[in-house]
Amino acid sequence: MPIRPLPPELINQIAAGEVIERPASVVKELVENSIDAGARRIEVDIEQGGSRLIRVRDDGGGIPRDELALAVASHATSKIGSFDDLERVASMGFRGEALASVSSVARFALTSRSTGEDAAWRIEVDGGRLQEARPAQHPPGTTIEVRDLFYNVPARRKFLRAERTEFAHIDDLLKSLALAREGVDIRLSHNGKPVRLLKPARDEHAALARVAEVLGPEFPGQSLRVDHEAAGLRLSGWVGLPTASRSQADQQYFYVNGRLVRDRIVAHAVRQAYADVLFHGRHPVFVLFLTLDPVGVDVNVHPAKSEVRFREQRLIHDFLFRTLHEALAQTRAGVAAAAGEGSVAMVGTVGSGFVQPGFTATQSSAPPMAAWPQAGSQSRLTLGVRDEPLAGYATLFGSTASAPRPSTSWTPPADNEPESGGDVPPLGYAIAQLKNIYVLAENEHGMVLVDMHAAHERITYEKLKNGRVTANLRSQMLLVPLSIAVSAREAAAAEEHADALGEWGLELSRSGPSGVVVRRIPSLLEGADVAQLTRDVLGELAQHGSSRRLEELENELLSTMACHGSVRAGRRLGIPEMNALLREMEATERSGQCNHGRPTWVQLSLGELDRLFLRGR
Ligand SMILES: Nc1ncnc2c1ncn2[C@@H]1O[C@H](COP(=O)(O)OP(=O)(O)O)[C@@H](O)[C@H]1O
Ligand SMILES: [Mg+2]
Repeated sequence: MPIRPLPPELINQIAAGEVIERPASVVKELVENSIDAGARRIEVDIEQGGSRLIRVRDDGGGIPRDELALAVASHATSKIGSFDDLERVASMGFRGEALASVSSVARFALTSRSTGEDAAWRIEVDGGRLQEARPAQHPPGTTIEVRDLFYNVPARRKFLRAERTEFAHIDDLLKSLALAREGVDIRLSHNGKPVRLLKPARDEHAALARVAEVLGPEFPGQSLRVDHEAAGLRLSGWVGLPTASRSQADQQYFYVNGRLVRDRIVAHAVRQAYADVLFHGRHPVFVLFLTLDPVGVDVNVHPAKSEVRFREQRLIHDFLFRTLHEALAQTRAGVAAAAGEGSVAMVGTVGSGFVQPGFTATQSSAPPMAAWPQAGSQSRLTLGVRDEPLAGYATLFGSTASAPRPSTSWTPPADNEPESGGDVPPLGYAIAQLKNIYVLAENEHGMVLVDMHAAHERITYEKLKNGRVTANLRSQMLLVPLSIAVSAREAAAAEEHADALGEWGLELSRSGPSGVVVRRIPSLLEGADVAQLTRDVLGELAQHGSSRRLEELENELLSTMACHGSVRAGRRLGIPEMNALLREMEATERSGQCNHGRPTWVQLSLGELDRLFLRGR
């Protein structure tokens, strides 16, 4: 066959192959056009999962009669006119290809009345042929109808899935668009029945209600609000608490200048920010909006525009990581609801005195939606304990098995009652220990249950990390150096990383082909099984050490150490020890969940207890 230029219709069909994969892709292109046209209200009507009809109606700016034919021509757009415009594009569309593509693979009709014109016009495209414009009835705005999608592309039509599946894709797509356009009224119907009605949100609470429509009614009570601005970047939205993580990454929405994207840099920064508080293999829930100068991000990377390229990748990564890391640090016990299996109430919020200016991360208000408090009306609990010298909880769990007295700096109140006039601390005062595993405490709201091993493990871990950062991790000489037999690889790892381990307070050296000698351990870990601890740390180093940098491993290693140094479930505690643990939890960042993302405590409010006993019915 000689070389020939392709007919325009075929060019459009080829282009359609890239972006029009299924009915939901048509809905995406049409609704994004409505958004670009400034619509305040968008109605989407679907029949038979979109394979029979997709109709999108908006009240946007419309298209003037003399531009109707251009709207469906390929490479024709009103959104950019030069390379310069492309560099700073702020609209969803800019390729001028969508309508040309869609109209080449379906029976297509466009009716529009442009603002300022007193009549509406309609054009139809059938089998790629554009019909003459005809007068029509239509309020200001645009309606596009797409019938019999892929009627002329049998290969594609064959790949359409069940009606229900295709409709679910459309619903998902619309939800993701709706999250980013909280001010737009969006309605969806299927086969004549209304399915989704997303009312415009005028304030933050309405916005959160809309988010709850998409992510479920529990989300507001299990998330933190994020809003941080620096260096021309702004990150806002909501991040799910670690304890509300999921087994799949199916509720993760990240928008760059209002566009939902999947990005490696972003994914990595988020993963790192959660690394410390999430169980391996769990996925956080989030809705996050990154806003930056359009010049700083290239959106012309992928035909479906689902990818972007940041000009300053490092800066973006660090900004995201820092902001989220800081937000998640607030998941200290007593601050956020620990979402266990059963029903769990919330304690309230604590002022975030230690975060940088311009940063807010507050506990989102609790369901039910009607009861969401107004901004600023959330109960504030004073964390008086934070200013007081803390009882050194770790020292309470020294090498001796008997319960020592708490240090003098903290005195438990007599018979457990709150000091007269003083505030009850968020986690309250200990009452008893249950099965030597759980601590029972009473606070203002009712009963608090604490998993003592999980809680102490987190506290020790945070201390080890802080000690490392501030380089004042005290270590303690062993009376008799301890020789331990290890594998050759572990001995090699000990030799290789001796300096770094020494910085963490674990001082050891290789003593032969398969032996090490431990001389010092971190004071915090006093009482731990040193041989086992050392084997575990070296085992981890030997396993990952060569392929992963030590800094990357650091938190895992510290976490291993923390586990060994923590009070075991099954140990009997005295009331003062239990109270000391509660106070330390309140003062420790991220103490709301253990190192694996499981909750360390739950609150059972009086109301919930009453319900258990059918009181007040
Ligand atoms: N719903 C709408 N309201 C107003 N104008 C529209 C609408 N849909 C499409 N248009 C016009 O048609 C043009 C072509 O649309 P499209 O093929 O999606 O390309 P792009 O969105 O990349 O510009 C747009 O630039 C816009 O001017
Ligand atoms: Mg478009």
